[in-house]
Amino acid sequence: MSDRPIELPLELVSLLRASPRLVALTGAGVSQESGLRTFRDAQTGLWAQYKPTELASPEAFQRDPKLVWDWYAWRREAVKGVRPNRGHYALVEIEKRVSHFTLITQNVDNLHRFAGSQNVLELHGNIQRVRCADCYTFTETWDDDSESVPRCKVCDGLLRPDVVWFGESLPRDQLEAAVTAARSCDVFFSIGTSGVVQPAASLAFAARNRGAVVVEINAEPTPLTPKADYVVQGKSGEILPQLVEAVWG
Ligand code: OAD
Repeated sequence: MSDRPIELPLELVSLLRASPRLVALTGAGVSQESGLRTFRDAQTGLWAQYKPTELASPEAFQRDPKLVWDWYAWRREAVKGVRPNRGHYALVEIEKRVSHFTLITQNVDNLHRFAGSQNVLELHGNIQRVRCADCYTFTETWDDDSESVPRCKVCDGLLRPDVVWFGESLPRDQLEAAVTAARSCDVFFSIGTSGVVQPAASLAFAARNRGAVVVEINAEPTPLTPKADYVVQGKSGEILPQLVEAVWG
């Protein structure tokens, strides 16, 4: 089945050709066509089936570290089996064609890097990285006896995924770089994100307040939709390759 052809406003095409500074913020929707579940889909979303507070918070880890470790181990394995989709690859193409392109992602699945994107800011961490909950030492190997949570070889603390949990701060360097990029871009894309989790959700507004044009690409309307300058509704894996072709092809 071929993609639904999208109609891009000509003024947007011209604007993108003339804009040296682009930013794209991505969310779980960008990985949906790779087979990964989003968070807030009413039927299939992860948060429809699991309670974030029972799995993705420091309190949950304190209460039941094994449950949390196992849930992330399951997701880590699920992610290992998936491949980037055409949306991820289109973003790689944009980076090659635009002089200043910053990709900001809320996704922890590593698929942007896997596809070949270079300048990626990971606001919520990366599920493939594991670190000590106490001394922050990163590790690539651990003893997984499946009875208990593996421990840090340096300080014997519990190991955990290097992802941001509810109630935790975002990695400061990544957030600062994201805010700087948003404040200085010509065009800000919000792609495949429901735009309800802060501080990521406010980046589009930080960009807009500094004069950037905001473009939303999403399968469904979001709280950003009425405020965006352009909205292209549909799947990012179908829209982004057509956008690349129309603007830089
Ligand atoms: P959500 O699950 O909240 O939103 C996914 C968005 O993607 C929705 O707006 C969908 O309409 C859209 N979507 C679905 N499939 C799409 C497709 N093929 N093409 C384009 N859009 C599509 O996911 P996020 O916005 O990423 O945080 O959620 C933000 C954060 O909430 C996550 O990073 C995670 C979660 O709690 C942490 O775990 C810290």
